[in-house]
Amino acid sequence: MSGFENIAAVLKARSGLSLGLDKAYLVQARLEPILKKRALSSLALLADRLRLDPALEREVVEAMTTNETLFFRDGRPFDHLRDVMLPRLHATRPRGMPLRIWSAAASTGQEAYSLAMLVSEMGPALAGRAVEIVGTDIAREPLQRGEQGLYTQFEVQRGLPARLLVKYFTKEDGGWRINRQLRDMVRFREWNLLSDLSGLGRFDVIFCRNVLIYFDQATKARTLEAASRLLSPEGAIYLGAAETILGMNVGLSPAAGGHGIFQRNAPAGAAATTG
Ligand SMILES: C[S@@+](CC[C@H](N)C(=O)[O-])C[C@H]1O[C@@H](n2cnc3c(N)ncnc32)[C@H](O)[C@@H]1O
Repeated sequence: MSGFENIAAVLKARSGLSLGLDKAYLVQARLEPILKKRALSSLALLADRLRLDPALEREVVEAMTTNETLFFRDGRPFDHLRDVMLPRLHATRPRGMPLRIWSAAASTGQEAYSLAMLVSEMGPALAGRAVEIVGTDIAREPLQRGEQGLYTQFEVQRGLPARLLVKYFTKEDGGWRINRQLRDMVRFREWNLLSDLSGLGRFDVIFCRNVLIYFDQATKARTLEAASRLLSPEGAIYLGAAETILGMNVGLSPAAGGHGIFQRNAPAGAAATTG
């Protein structure tokens, strides 16, 4: 196996990232800083080291993740959540029982904080019901940025309405910090989607967006199936705009009224629940 193939195999096993030979340039470019730092002259040498050095393996995985994200990305899933899903969950759930939302590939936290702002803006429509938001990602550095809740001028100009910027952020040296109340609604945890997910608990809403696109079909199906096992029967899983479950038998069906939104199939013998 070449250095590239070795590294691609490690990345696939460790993070699900599926890389064809056409991505050799990308691997070389992303890993160049690591090669330099460690004075390694080739990917083959790096691949040899990986097996013996878990810290290096993590560094390589993190370097290869794509952390691109923005506030209220794609808009429509957030509209559906605000107008359909959360009002429905709130109406059917016993009083006092919190709702739980998972941002399953949270990156630097914009998705999780968009969810927190959306919930906060719903105010009386949720009648004080507690909503817990959990943001997870395999990559530690982006998550740490999410925890800090400090965003650059460029980042707050991407997707975030000016009204919400003024309402929920404070200008500081180095950017805009999201306020304490919203930070307290969100908990960030390092979690690999390929690992056992059961420790995360149950969720009413799962945003699993723009991560499955990096996986091959089998890994995608396995991950979706594992994630949907955490979903409450009335809840929904929201995928990214370019993601689909077409051709996958993962126990999910499209929810009415929303593209890329899926609900768990009713158990055999029960009436269908989508709609
Ligand atoms: C493009 S970002 C998506 C961020 C956000 N969900 C959005 O749609 O804007 C993809 C994220 O998936 C994370 N990721 C990749 N493989 C993962 C895995 N196996 N487990 C958990 N997170 C993973 C990456 O670290 C990256 O932060």
